[in-house]
Amino acid sequence: MKIAIVPGDGIGQEVMPAALSVLDAFGLDIEKVPLEIGFCKWEKTGSAITDDDLRLIKECDCVLFGAITTPPDPNYKSVLLRIRKELDLYANIRPFKPLRNVRLPCSGEFDFVIVRENTEGMYSGVEELHKDVAYTTRIITRKGSERIAEQACRIARQRKKRLTIVHKANVLKSDSFFRDVCIGVAKKKGIEYHEMLVDAMAYDLIMHTGKYDVIVTTNLFGDILSDEAAALVGGLGLCPSANIGDKYALFEPIHGSAPDIAGKGIANPLAAILSVRMMLEWAGYNTEAKTIEKAVNSVLEDGIVTPDLRGSYSTNEVSSAITKLIRII
Ligand code: NAI
Ligand code: MG
Repeated sequence: MKIAIVPGDGIGQEVMPAALSVLDAFGLDIEKVPLEIGFCKWEKTGSAITDDDLRLIKECDCVLFGAITTPPDPNYKSVLLRIRKELDLYANIRPFKPLRNVRLPCSGEFDFVIVRENTEGMYSGVEELHKDVAYTTRIITRKGSERIAEQACRIARQRKKRLTIVHKANVLKSDSFFRDVCIGVAKKKGIEYHEMLVDAMAYDLIMHTGKYDVIVTTNLFGDILSDEAAALVGGLGLCPSANIGDKYALFEPIHGSAPDIAGKGIANPLAAILSVRMMLEWAGYNTEAKTIEKAVNSVLEDGIVTPDLRGSYSTNEVSSAITKLIRII
């Protein structure tokens, strides 16, 4: 397997070496292609990602991604959005279940996955900025909605077979379209479905977390709901994600470059390490993926955690503890 390695900016530079030390502990036959992409590169060269970077990425089977700073500058185009579009990574898959020994804001058992459409909706990139008005066009296509609904049904079939379609169809025509297409796919695939308006969903996800299995939604709603869900599992530093297309895949922590803690060596590496777990599972290394999950839960149980989880360990101390466990499990 050939992997493009993109640490990116801020704590991406810290959690990526931690994640790679865990990956290396398995001694798998993996070729790594390190790439400098992101805001740092933009500051140095005026370009955050080049056509050559994209060509090199496309020569790999998948990408392991840290985090990239996106400044609020209208001239700066989001690198991640470009990669997602170029590689057609249409499904953003984010699993949420409690890890051991992590204090949760709400009680109760839960285990759900958010399947977010990743290439269109509010992030289609069709925008206009004028002096007194700005427009963002929200594009929802039949193809885009069908394939995300199919992906969600596929995941639901491997789980509890319960699909929740989240939208704002009472107000937005584009969401009424998304809803209808999703319902059509769920019926065709024989998957039991429910629907929720996104605002009600934001509330119910906290009140009745255990009710949900697979949640499918559009790009912006999925972005927001998954950060809310990250709070339910105890923090952004614990949440991995997979961006899947038909040909390529990209694995990354949900969190950003966290400039407030960057450079201090205290970023929680677990989201990045669990992203490696998702990558290995995707590539068929199921035993190794399970070993990572076991080792992560074990260090959490032993209280070897970073300050975001009220611990005093550094990024490297956490990853070293996991690496040591992997060698003996
Ligand atoms: P953020 O996720 O970087 O940080 C939010 C808060 O969570 C901060 O207080 C941070 O210290 C904390 N945090 C995040 N990850 C953590 C970790 N692993 N360990 C401990 N604490 C952690 O989001 P923010 O501050 O909104 O964005 C910062 C920059 O990152 C922006 O430029 C934004 O555009 C970018 N960003 C990039 C993403 C990506 O590359 N996928 C995703 C989200 C934001
Ligand atoms: Mg986000």
